[in-house]
Amino acid sequence: MATLIEVPAGLAGVAVADTAIGDVRGEEGFYHYRGIDATDLARTRTLEQVWSLLLDGDVDSVDGQDGFANRLRADRRLPDGLPAVLAAVAAGGVGSDALTLLRTGVSATGSALALRPLWDGDEGSRRRDVVRVAALMPTVLAGLHRLGHGQEVVASRDDLGHVAHYLYVLRGEPAPAAHVDALSRYLISTVDHGFNASTFTARVVASTGADAAAAMVAGIAALSGPLHGGAPSRVVQMLDDIGSLDRADQWLAGTLDRGERLMGFGHAVYRGRDPRSELLRETVLGLVDSADERGRTLVELAVAVEEKALAALAERRPDRPLMTNVEFYAGVLMDVIGLPRELFSATFAVARSVGWSAHVLEQTRDRKIVRPAARYVGPQPASANAAS
Ligand code: ACO
Repeated sequence: MATLIEVPAGLAGVAVADTAIGDVRGEEGFYHYRGIDATDLARTRTLEQVWSLLLDGDVDSVDGQDGFANRLRADRRLPDGLPAVLAAVAAGGVGSDALTLLRTGVSATGSALALRPLWDGDEGSRRRDVVRVAALMPTVLAGLHRLGHGQEVVASRDDLGHVAHYLYVLRGEPAPAAHVDALSRYLISTVDHGFNASTFTARVVASTGADAAAAMVAGIAALSGPLHGGAPSRVVQMLDDIGSLDRADQWLAGTLDRGERLMGFGHAVYRGRDPRSELLRETVLGLVDSADERGRTLVELAVAVEEKALAALAERRPDRPLMTNVEFYAGVLMDVIGLPRELFSATFAVARSVGWSAHVLEQTRDRKIVRPAARYVGPQPASANAAS
């Protein structure tokens, strides 16, 4: 029997690839994209600039006629025939969650674009394919959502940035600048975060030479599990359940007494602060002035509940720092800008698709298929002959 290399459960701490795209330093409470602090990028750059940084290491020359931002405008228009397929997906998927519909819609997108296997392309065509699929994802998601609610698909507009365009094709009218800026910060701060399950999955599929849509569909599938992409809407549900600050102490204590977890707290990699939660807290507070009454009340409640939850967790778990994670204020942010809750996880997938596009492209430069082994623990064949 061949000697197998033993690795920890879940491949925790095992480096399975080299990447130059980004890194998470959990102990330091810091993460970066190609050497630049990701939260700084979220505060100061556009999604197009950060996408270009992930793909090419270029954050400054995306504008202009031949720039990346301009090419994205063409790439995000639904190809002929796709709206009819999306209408069928939306009609057939009533009751399915948005991420399931998006997964199916992205698969249909690959067919509509007649994508070839990444294996058969060169660097230029592979780059074009991964960007096209990821660029279409917000348009596909918005189209599916509208069709599922009996509305028409909104035609793309070329005069909007990528984040503003997502909100436009979702709502059918331009979004306020404050909403675009806040969502942009959220999306930029979550495009990439180390070798998480969905990024790894997308890279495994890319390593087989499959097409770009196949890799993205696999990423969405991995993200759909509750251990990966589902917490933001649960945070807002938790705040709804608490209802008002005078109920918070009792609600938090009761939840922890039952051995349940508080949504939006704790992290597998960060042992101290999650830098994304600080960025999003600041962003949500910046939205208060332009928010409606409901939004202001939600932000006030969230800030106060965060403080109480941190105190309750510190009291019960002095051995283990359990701090606010990205999902706590992500849920509040998306709710305050009026994104439907059913789209929270799918909007996270829209952000991650930007990171996946860079990872898939990076993976295809290595022509080695990812093909680990498993230790067989079932019954052995009765004899060597029986085995052959
Ligand atoms: N509330 C209460 N207790 C918690 C919480 C929490 N939010 N998080 C961890 N704990 C407790 C666990 O019950 C466990 O207790 P035990 O040692 O008695 O079994 C201990 O802290 C360690 O928990 P682990 O599961 O080992 O923590 P890990 O670091 O692996 O998990 C995770 C991280 C999954 C995020 C966890 O903190 C959690 O479930 N949080 C709530 C859900 C959530 O917010 N998810 C979004 C995460 S951010 C992201 O994925 C993008």
